[in-house]
Amino acid sequence: MTTYNEYDHLFKILLIGDSGVGKSCMLLRFSDNTFMDSYISTIGVDFKIRMIELDGKKIKMQIWDTAGQERFRTITSSYYRGSHGIIIVYDVTNQESFDNLQMWIQEIQKYGEKNVAKLIVGNKADLVDKKVISTEKAKSVADSFGIPWLETSAKNSTGIEQAFLKLAETIK
Ligand code: GTP
Ligand code: MG
Repeated sequence: MTTYNEYDHLFKILLIGDSGVGKSCMLLRFSDNTFMDSYISTIGVDFKIRMIELDGKKIKMQIWDTAGQERFRTITSSYYRGSHGIIIVYDVTNQESFDNLQMWIQEIQKYGEKNVAKLIVGNKADLVDKKVISTEKAKSVADSFGIPWLETSAKNSTGIEQAFLKLAETIK
């Protein structure tokens, strides 16, 4: 007998990256298909659930959204353990958030599981006129880290579904 709540696999996903890059908006787009223009900075950690199907298997994605603000770093770092996949987000209009990718990757090495699946995401791709991190630059830096990469917009939905599914594909 199958009920709605049954699933074949549980994937624990973590969203990390600088404050303001759009982690919460990406998750809200993926879980509820909505967007918020106002900025409510995350306090500590939050999570949402979404079911997906992969190769005919039901997968429950439990996605943890962390605060980018430095003062929450001790709390958020304790959520790396046990995560199957981590999305490292930068903002394509914010150089500093891109330069900090290396620091975030070091955090994963320090606190994450050895073989955790990783994905680098450049969010706010809709802000074409304000973009300072070119696609080519981002691709080559992601390549040098050996981590898959793509661009998204939580605002207009570009790439959001693909990002989470791509990560799930790597985990399975
Ligand atoms: P912290 O919780 O502080 O770590 O920030 P965050 O990474 O969760 O950022 P959040 O999702 O709260 O978004 C910050 C601001 O960027 C908000 O004002 C959002 O409306 C805006 N924003 C998020 N994603 C996008 C996007 O894809 N495009 C545009 N234009 N704005 C976005
Ligand atoms: Mg947030």
